[in-house]
Amino acid sequence: MAIAISVVNQKGGVGKTTTTVNLGAALAGKGKRVLLIDIDAQSNMTTHLGVGAKDDPSDLSEVPQGPELTIYDVLKGNKRIQDVIIKRSDNLEVVPSSLLLSAADLELGGVVGRELLLKRAIEKVRDQYDVILIDCPPTLGLLSLNALAAVDKVIVPVQSEYLALHGVRQLLDTIDQVRNVYNTNLIVGGVLICLHDSRKRLARAVADTIRAYFGQLVFNTVIRENVALAEAPAKGQTIFEYMPKSSGAEDYQALAEEVLNVKA
Ligand SMILES: Nc1ncnc2c1ncn2[C@@H]1O[C@H](COP(=O)(O)OP(=O)(O)OP(=O)(O)O)[C@@H](O)[C@H]1O
Ligand SMILES: [Mg+2]
Repeated sequence: MAIAISVVNQKGGVGKTTTTVNLGAALAGKGKRVLLIDIDAQSNMTTHLGVGAKDDPSDLSEVPQGPELTIYDVLKGNKRIQDVIIKRSDNLEVVPSSLLLSAADLELGGVVGRELLLKRAIEKVRDQYDVILIDCPPTLGLLSLNALAAVDKVIVPVQSEYLALHGVRQLLDTIDQVRNVYNTNLIVGGVLICLHDSRKRLARAVADTIRAYFGQLVFNTVIRENVALAEAPAKGQTIFEYMPKSSGAEDYQALAEEVLNVKA
């Protein structure tokens, strides 16, 4: 039975997608059967993994088409989740997203049980994986509620920058509400400091503030700023495929170990 984790923070650009992809890839490399689900209409995770991309991902002249069947079809009730899963590489399978998802909040507005659509879908495949990771959009709308209602834990990436904790209270309140209404067992599995530049005094000070605020909840592993992590998406590759000797690969490997240790 898979453990399911949502990677969530309504603040944009903090490292959610990078973390979902590379934590997932690290866990797959350790022999875990991993399912990655993209529920962000931007579909960054889908393109990062080169799923449904054109043959030459370095050709930036054209917007990638994207896969034909996506999480959108599942949430709309037109396809089963089994029908949209794509095998990406060894132990790594993907439920891709689509731009169509940007209308989902409106389109699903009148559906009874609309917050539980993803949970119901995941239940059908949970026993086929060890870990399910969900990459959330930078909003706290219906899609993020679905992601929070569907999982055991959340990982919250935060950036060690000015305003790192801005919006965190609102996020924690939302998690509390989902726990009260839909998902009694939901826990914060960890806060992850991402895009960290330890040469900057401000970054070090913010990291200290984050640790003071969240205490034990903060992962020991810090994801350092690493240009290879920013380059890998354009190649449609994980960091372990693109640059296995980079600090980014090292950091996500360490995170995977920490996540597995907590689980054991
Ligand atoms: N540790 C890192 N070092 C360098 N660049 C990084 C790192 N982590 C993420 N990036 C880059 O920073 C940008 C934002 O990261 P990412 O897309 O993972 O954030 P996000 O939280 O998913 O964003 P959004 O809220 O838009 O979904 C991307 O261009 C990514 O490649
Ligand atoms: Mg993202």
